[in-house]
Amino acid sequence: MAYNLLAGKKGIITGALDEKSIAWQVALKAKAEGATFVLSNAPVALRMGKINELAQHCQTEVIGADATSVEDIENLYKKSMEILGGKIDFVLHSIGMSPNVRKGKEYGDLNYEWFMKTLDISAISFHKMLQVAEKLDALNEYASVVALSYIAAQRTFPDYSDMAQAKALLESIARSYGERYGRLKKVRINTISQSPTKTTAGTGVSGFDAFFEYANMMSPLGNAPAEACADYCITLFSDLTRYVTMQNLYHDGGFSSMGISPEIVGKMQP
Ligand SMILES: NC(=O)c1ccc[n+]([C@@H]2O[C@H](COP(=O)([O-])OP(=O)(O)OC[C@H]3O[C@@H](n4cnc5c(N)ncnc54)[C@H](O)[C@@H]3O)[C@@H](O)[C@H]2O)c1
Repeated sequence: MAYNLLAGKKGIITGALDEKSIAWQVALKAKAEGATFVLSNAPVALRMGKINELAQHCQTEVIGADATSVEDIENLYKKSMEILGGKIDFVLHSIGMSPNVRKGKEYGDLNYEWFMKTLDISAISFHKMLQVAEKLDALNEYASVVALSYIAAQRTFPDYSDMAQAKALLESIARSYGERYGRLKKVRINTISQSPTKTTAGTGVSGFDAFFEYANMMSPLGNAPAEACADYCITLFSDLTRYVTMQNLYHDGGFSSMGISPEIVGKMQP
């Protein structure tokens, strides 16, 4: 069901690789809620992914941008404003990648160049997207910027490795830039801490299936699917959340407030 929550709003949605991607679901919902937007992903993902299918469905365009490149991000905002005919009302940062995780490096044997890449792609890119937006004055008042995070920022999930540091940094940037951009332009900046979700990035973490099941058993509502995460993003892009900023918002079926669940206790009993 659609509520026309984003009627007249213009946005940028990054990170849609295929239909499993959280960003893909956000694009479908944003379209249904009346928004116009452009899609963006890294040039390599444009060649490998199915983003053009999504663009066709949403009657929009795709702009390639490596989120670590300030130049690419400048081009992304400039072209988006041209295509959409004005400043931007919402931005989704749905970008994450760790070469250490991808190549199975142990946490005690990290490659530091890759560690820096993890931080650049998964967190500093968020700062770059905000700083470039500010410099170009690309966002309207009360625009909403959302990035996707994971509870490994607060608690240790060993296989998540250096992505835990990336998420902690991402959430910290949301607070620091949220203060600045709120004061300057009333722009809202938040992160959504999402349940484990079966996407390319998610399933790339070793042991994913086990911690997906564990989180599901721990959460009174069960793991939140990508479609529901997209719904939550839409509420944050809408005018109904104009005073929510600098928050890390859990979208996890209750997982973050749990200590142990009866289901897990049941599993532990002989
Ligand atoms: N899947 C999960 O379990 C889960 C849980 C919590 C948070 N998240 C976060 O959600 C976000 C989206 O991930 P997803 O699960 O939809 O997986 P996904 O693999 O579909 O999306 C990740 C995206 O990041 C893009 N990307 C990687 N490097 C890039 C670069 N240099 N420039 C631009 N884009 C780049 C990829 O092309 C891809 O589209 C990520 O930040 C991820 O950490 C995922």
